[in-house]
Amino acid sequence: MPKETYYITTAIAYPNAKPHIGYAYELIMADFLARWNSLLGKDVFFLTGTDEHGQKIENTAKKEGKTPKQFVDEYVTYFQELCKNLNIANNNFIRTTEKRHTKTCQEIFKKVQDKGLIYKGTYEGLYCTGCEAFYTEKDLKEGKCPNHLKVPELLKEESYFFKMSVFQEQLIKHIENHPNFIFPESRRKEILNRLQEPLKDLSVSRTSFKWGIPVLGDTKHVIYVWFDALLNYISGIGYPGKKFQKYWPANCHVVGKDIAWFHTVIWQTMLMAADIELSKTVYSHGFLTVDGQKMSKTLGNVIDPIEICDKYNADSIRYVLLRDVVPGEDGDFSEKNLVNRNNADLADALGNLLQRTSTLIHKNFNGSIPVCGKLISKEKELESAIPEIAELNNLVEQYQWNKLIELVWQYIHQCNKYVNDTQPWTLEGERLATVLYTLIEHLRIISILVWPIIPESAEKLAEKLGQPLGKLKDAKFKKSTRGIVAAPEPLFKKFEYAEEEKSLLNIKAGKIISAQKHPEADKLYILLVDIETEKRTIVSGLRDYCTEQDLLDKTILLLVNLTPAKIRGIESQGMVLTYEHGSVIKPVEINAKPGEQITIGELKPQTKNILFSEFEKLKLQVQNNNLICDGKILQINGKPIHTDMPNGTKIR
Ligand code: MSP
Repeated sequence: MPKETYYITTAIAYPNAKPHIGYAYELIMADFLARWNSLLGKDVFFLTGTDEHGQKIENTAKKEGKTPKQFVDEYVTYFQELCKNLNIANNNFIRTTEKRHTKTCQEIFKKVQDKGLIYKGTYEGLYCTGCEAFYTEKDLKEGKCPNHLKVPELLKEESYFFKMSVFQEQLIKHIENHPNFIFPESRRKEILNRLQEPLKDLSVSRTSFKWGIPVLGDTKHVIYVWFDALLNYISGIGYPGKKFQKYWPANCHVVGKDIAWFHTVIWQTMLMAADIELSKTVYSHGFLTVDGQKMSKTLGNVIDPIEICDKYNADSIRYVLLRDVVPGEDGDFSEKNLVNRNNADLADALGNLLQRTSTLIHKNFNGSIPVCGKLISKEKELESAIPEIAELNNLVEQYQWNKLIELVWQYIHQCNKYVNDTQPWTLEGERLATVLYTLIEHLRIISILVWPIIPESAEKLAEKLGQPLGKLKDAKFKKSTRGIVAAPEPLFKKFEYAEEEKSLLNIKAGKIISAQKHPEADKLYILLVDIETEKRTIVSGLRDYCTEQDLLDKTILLLVNLTPAKIRGIESQGMVLTYEHGSVIKPVEINAKPGEQITIGELKPQTKNILFSEFEKLKLQVQNNNLICDGKILQINGKPIHTDMPNGTKIR
């Protein structure tokens, strides 16, 4: 009998920036599902990758002075590194710029076109490049895209259209007849609700830019990036070949809530049009915030999961995200919670259980697993604490891994309680052997159950017990386990979390590399300031006080964490700090290299952006030839910044 297959995918991310912790969360959920199903004994295929075409990529590449291909080649490495660092067990990584993908994409486009389901017309309407999506007036919030809060551009161009509308009834019926097709239930209702409105045909090609897959036979058109990207789910398993025959339909597409529509409506109608079976489930997760705030470049609070992995480890990140984010809902990530969970649940609960057991086995049995003697009620009780696999599996099928983890950790706590109750350090002979044997056996079962959650630690645990890592069918108590246990050594590291005291400000040395008069405001300059890692555009009100020449090539203090704001149509990305004394207003000049960090007393520089009103509340002024902020001295490279300005000069 061939094994039952399980095909799981994540969304393929745009490699137009480094991955953030939200995407890491998606990979982790999918990896949990892949590993759980492989523990069930299924033949699992797990696909992830990157979505590399489209106007957004073309625009960002241009900004960085690179060709789109150079640009994606560079960024894709971060996504691959992330998979490796998080121990993601993907079987393949698909890039939509690969030949195998472009070929499938062109073929399917042609197939649907030949069936008369793609026709040529003119698209006239709104488009948000951030979402790479078409909008109607009704979808917008105060005229802006609800995701990016930007006014979408008005497009009018020749375009191919996909007759999505003809599949509306069929799709509604399918969703209604398949309660497991969309998870969670709230998202399923939302989609069914939206499907009450008539479906429009979808514009599936663009002519106004080049970075995409050309339409066969009409190469001035490139295929719409979503039509292209969604097909990765079949090109990545070699459509229409053997592997595709084996694994399709996908058992689960794991995607964020923002793109549930693309996966449950657009993708499924594309499949209908191409005569391909529909996916079994789309599981749509919520969004992560960081310390309670939405992650954004503007707020400066984007968490790089690669850095977090280096600072802690993959298993602690995986554990905290799977345990503390309620599946399907939005959730929060904080380092403080990660450290607490790591120390309490991993190091103290599981780590100590192994440590206590292996110490006693080494002391009394030279590391050899002792032979199990007569089992009494205490052992029977602990055996009944082993979670029922059927119950756990049921939770996984309902996408409730947080509850599964709770049950597994209740069991781990029961094992620790058993140690406290039996007090093996006071026992000897057969009873001591039996208690220690019992503990080894439960640790072996635990190593299996925790593998999908914390794979690296699970594998280490099994290895320390001298046991192969089993499948779920092996997660039951038996009396015949033999082997040598490794010398006691902590399985987990503990971490410390120190709340760092941060200043409200982040100030850097910046060199003014260009100064121009603002075309629309006679008191303003537009400056370009080099802070080494980037060049910031600053709109500054210094025009009444200095000439362009006074400013050019000067190194000044730049407040870099002021929330960017549009001033007379130009976004200002910070503020040049100036002295104010009587009628004198001039920039604070310093002798430093661009990008050098200014510190304030012992405080760490701020990583989040602040509002101007918050800045105004601070007392920033000159005292005894020093720059002082709320009583603390401004320093560069550990030395106070010297000034000749008189006491009481304000800085703002
Ligand atoms: N390229 C498309 C997907 C195409 S799939 C055929 C895309 N890329 S993305 O890079 O914007 O997002 C990748 C995934 O990350 C999506 O599932 C998205 O929902 C998810 N997330 C983006 N921000 C997130 C959080 N803050 N939290 C959790 N997931 C988030 O969309």
